[in-house]
Amino acid sequence: MTKLFSKNLLNWHKTVKRALPWKKTRDAYKIWVSEIILQQTQVIQGIPYYKKFIKRFPNVKSLAVSELDEVLALWTGLGYYSRARNMHKAAKAIMERHHGKFPDTFEDILALPGVGEYTASAISSFAFNNPYAVVDANVIRVLARYYCLEQEVHQTEVLKDIKIRAFRLLDKKAPAEYNQAIMDFGALICKPKEPNCEDCVMENSCLGRKAGIAKELPRKKIKKPRRERFFHYMELCYKDKIMARQRTDNDIWNTLYELPYIETQSKRRLPLKRIETFLKEHIGPMEIAEFQKLELGYKQTLSHQYIHGVFYRLQIKGQMPPFKATYLHVSRKKLQKMAIPKIIDWYIRQKPITLR
Ligand code: ADE
Repeated sequence: MTKLFSKNLLNWHKTVKRALPWKKTRDAYKIWVSEIILQQTQVIQGIPYYKKFIKRFPNVKSLAVSELDEVLALWTGLGYYSRARNMHKAAKAIMERHHGKFPDTFEDILALPGVGEYTASAISSFAFNNPYAVVDANVIRVLARYYCLEQEVHQTEVLKDIKIRAFRLLDKKAPAEYNQAIMDFGALICKPKEPNCEDCVMENSCLGRKAGIAKELPRKKIKKPRRERFFHYMELCYKDKIMARQRTDNDIWNTLYELPYIETQSKRRLPLKRIETFLKEHIGPMEIAEFQKLELGYKQTLSHQYIHGVFYRLQIKGQMPPFKATYLHVSRKKLQKMAIPKIIDWYIRQKPITLR
């Protein structure tokens, strides 16, 4: 069964032409960049980020000597800035530990910041053709179906069993090709919601299919509902610039830039009085000339919470007041180039409709 799986998989892969930019390279640095980006987004959305990243940072050194803020700004829209921070750290570590040459052993790769077992296996196999089997969500799904594993796949013991099976299946003579094949197979045939069992080369040996439950596998833990939070953002304008601040709280989006906001328990729009009080207390004494509640809403999904954005636009009257040093007075354009949460990036791209 093991041999049959690998043989079928590799034969199938020969018929697949999935032209992805990172497939054309053996450069460990580029493969690493692609893998970190793909942990954050789907392949199609990931391609422009990959191209932009490689264009600006073509190698380890260029990334290591760059400013962190610039790396974070390139990451806007992908989310989880900690991944970008770790990449910056890892590039510096490669300069120090390996004289700028990307390490070529699994252990050294695994020791880099932000690199887990999956990424180390992907780089080891794709760049150096070393026999490490990748086990990501695609592979877990394919194997849970193929072997009809009905336990919840996130349990340590089950995952351990899947890793053993994955390594057994790996074609040790062609790890790069095999790993790419199983990921492509998971993405194109053994898809999460609608597996294409009719066109599947495993049709005679897939136990999940035989049992008629392929589509229901893998079984996952029922997740706790996400926490709902409501951020009322203020675009506070003076002349053609707006107020922004860097987050420092022990909360989400630490160190990212954003508009001033008030958190409440609902989407219900706030009255001007409440907003004025907040602005005076947090930014400085000021008078508001114009106040608009915007007919715009945005919901950003994070791993454990939803952030609902409600937006207001305000114009400061008269002179620019002295404001607290935690705030910046920047153009929209400049803010857009800084490291900002997706919700702020989205807002800046809108042409707001005024409610009143
Ligand atoms: N997802 C993560 N890595 C991938 C790769 N190399 N090809 C396709 N999908 C992927």
